[in-house]
Amino acid sequence: MHIDLSEKVAIVTGAARGIGKEICLSLAREGVIVVALDVTEAALASTAHDLHEIDPRARTYACDIRDAARIDTVIADAVAALGRIDILVNNAGVVDEGVIETVAEARWDLVQDVNVKGTFLMCKAVIPVMKRQRSGRIINAASFAAIVPRVGGVVYAASKAAVVQLTRGLAGELGPWEITVNAYAPGMIPTEMNHFTERPAQEQEELLSTLTLHRWGRPEDIANLVCFLSSDRASYITGALIDISGGKLATQLPHEAYALSDVNR
Ligand SMILES: NC(=O)c1ccc[n+]([C@@H]2O[C@H](COP(=O)([O-])OP(=O)(O)OC[C@H]3O[C@@H](n4cnc5c(N)ncnc54)[C@H](O)[C@@H]3O)[C@@H](O)[C@H]2O)c1
Repeated sequence: MHIDLSEKVAIVTGAARGIGKEICLSLAREGVIVVALDVTEAALASTAHDLHEIDPRARTYACDIRDAARIDTVIADAVAALGRIDILVNNAGVVDEGVIETVAEARWDLVQDVNVKGTFLMCKAVIPVMKRQRSGRIINAASFAAIVPRVGGVVYAASKAAVVQLTRGLAGELGPWEITVNAYAPGMIPTEMNHFTERPAQEQEELLSTLTLHRWGRPEDIANLVCFLSSDRASYITGALIDISGGKLATQLPHEAYALSDVNR
């Protein structure tokens, strides 16, 4: 399948590292002019370097997605420079762990402010631009935790469930302008957010045994989905939550298939 994203303009939040950085680079390789946002300009240095090797038109901005005034400035500047916004990837997110009594109110506020309010503020700023164009793609990072929460992860799970309902509600509002809004639910992708591959071997095996495909996800797995959802090939998909977890929901005990099989891992 040929996906043509050339000359499209994409805003990607949380672009300094991890999945967000890979989304930026994958979109740029497909010909997209990428506008990469993260909290500080310094954090964006490596993304800026790698992006500019692919496309010198790429832009980076320090932008905390909790700051509505800063978002407005950044979006106005990007539109003045590039003329349009075709794709918004709300990737920035933070996690918090702990059973409820141990979670400080300030930690609850931070997670909801970044994951939910930040997504809301970015959509609010970009949607008028997309409405003028009568087209657009909004793609939101949810999480498998929005489908099945983890014990000790209620704060994060609640925030990502809110992102899913925001996605569905906006899909409904924006259908008349042919703006699609979708979310994806990654399972376990080792990044600085979770340090999965630095955990004790037995813990890693316990986590992997919950996956039908029995491997960690890769940032490229998510970036490939984002490229597809950004394209005209996905024009009839909206309001969807796409499970990209390596099959966490496919069967109850996926490790049994490995015990029965003669496939060496
Ligand atoms: N890694 C996984 O296994 C996994 C699973 C499910 C969902 N997700 C989601 O995918 C997204 C990316 O995850 P990751 O693993 O790459 O995380 P990460 O921690 O490596 O990267 C997150 C990025 O978001 C940025 N960020 C945080 N707060 C911000 C703010 N207020 N304004 C702007 N940028 C901000 C950080 O600086 C960082 O660069 C997150 O929304 C996360 O919840 C990840």
